[in-house]
Amino acid sequence: MNLDQQTTLLIVDDNPTNIKVLFNFLKNAGFRVLVAKDGKDALKKVEVAIPDLILLDVMMPGIDGFETCRFLKENPQYHDLPIIFMTALADTKNKVKGLSLGAVDYITKPFQQEEVLARINLHLQLCFLRKELAEKNERLSELNTQLEQKVLDRTSQLAKLQSQLILNEKMSSLGQLVAGIAHEINNPISFIVGNLTHAEEYAQDLINLIQLYQKYYPEPATEIAEKMAAIELDYLTKDFCQLITSMQSGTKRILQISHSMRTFSRADLNKKVKFNLHEGLDSTLLILKHRLKANRNRPAIEVKKKYGNLPEIDCYPGQLNQVFMNLLSNGIDAVEAANCGVSFAEIQANPNCLIIETKLLPTEPEIMIIIRDNGIGIEPEVQAKIFDYLFTTKEVGKGTGLGLAIAREIVEDKHGGTIACSSKKGEGTEFRVILPIQSS
Ligand SMILES: Nc1ncnc2c1ncn2[C@@H]1O[C@H](COP(=O)(O)OP(=O)(O)O)[C@@H](O)[C@H]1O
Ligand SMILES: [Mg+2]
Repeated sequence: MNLDQQTTLLIVDDNPTNIKVLFNFLKNAGFRVLVAKDGKDALKKVEVAIPDLILLDVMMPGIDGFETCRFLKENPQYHDLPIIFMTALADTKNKVKGLSLGAVDYITKPFQQEEVLARINLHLQLCFLRKELAEKNERLSELNTQLEQKVLDRTSQLAKLQSQLILNEKMSSLGQLVAGIAHEINNPISFIVGNLTHAEEYAQDLINLIQLYQKYYPEPATEIAEKMAAIELDYLTKDFCQLITSMQSGTKRILQISHSMRTFSRADLNKKVKFNLHEGLDSTLLILKHRLKANRNRPAIEVKKKYGNLPEIDCYPGQLNQVFMNLLSNGIDAVEAANCGVSFAEIQANPNCLIIETKLLPTEPEIMIIIRDNGIGIEPEVQAKIFDYLFTTKEVGKGTGLGLAIAREIVEDKHGGTIACSSKKGEGTEFRVILPIQSS
């Protein structure tokens, strides 16, 4: 309906006098007015052109007003067409019946023209607003659908970003692993490399010296001559240099092996296998050895292992090692943070300590790993957030805020276990990881 165009009203009444009165005054009020003399006639007229509003008499021969109303309301095409009953029946029962059939209003005969006009205008306006509202709702639901799609798109983008971040964190754990291995291997290798250079020089010097002796004392004593023959001096001289060269190539080979370990550590198993968690914990500790060792500021961090009797469990070993790595390196960070401003001697008296406990749970086919530290501890408000992605209290470059989020994902989503934390500020923190022995 467009209020700018002429609005069409349909009057349905079997009384010609009523029709005449209404027709004249509504026409004068600016409406286009159609007329039907009974219910049947009204239904026919509506089929030809849908009016904007119907004034419907109740008592008519044939199909009465109520029946006509019911017909119209049953047809979806006319369902929203506003109908006002005109009735001499002033009793409540009839009014209620009309309204319950879907009429919007009623007017009682004899008519007050102003009232009729006011009601018609009111319902035309309401009808217009209702349609507008419906259109807006439709638009809103379209926008909602678009929004939902956008949220879905964004969520999948975030999921991608998240897995990228996981990969990054994994790479950074691997980085630590490689750094640990490199550290452990590079030290002894550099002794060997350094000493080999000296050994080569010393050997050359000694050989030169022997050659000088041979030059100035071409006839050595019998004992020396015998010894020279026994050790095959000429062969030894040549072979010694070759030996050093091969030792040098050996050290090169070790460096290559450490390089291939770096490459190998990137390949992860994509299927669960039986794994001895103690091996995982021990290898992680080995990788973290360089961080546990004593340094200028503190003595070595003590690691106490209280390993129970565990069966092998079905798991992704690489991923669980990552969990251990994240928990243990957080523990090391926490004890180091607690060392801030404390003297070496004081730390020695109350040493930094990581406790790793494992046990088989008696009731369930599950195992528990407890990793406890005597570090700075966590305040309750912070504790609520530690498993959130990107939550960190550490300075830029030290913390990524991914360690525990990833640990939770690996333990809970990938292995159907649980991870929980309990901590007391200033006293220390404990993480409990529960894992099923058999994968579901
Ligand atoms: N053992 C712990 N002791 C004290 N605080 C911890 C410990 N483990 C984790 N936290 C707190 O939880 C936060 C999130 O840890 P994590 O997800 O591993 O990220 P990150 O170590 O990169 O900060 C840390 O920044 C720290 O505040
Ligand atoms: Mg961490």
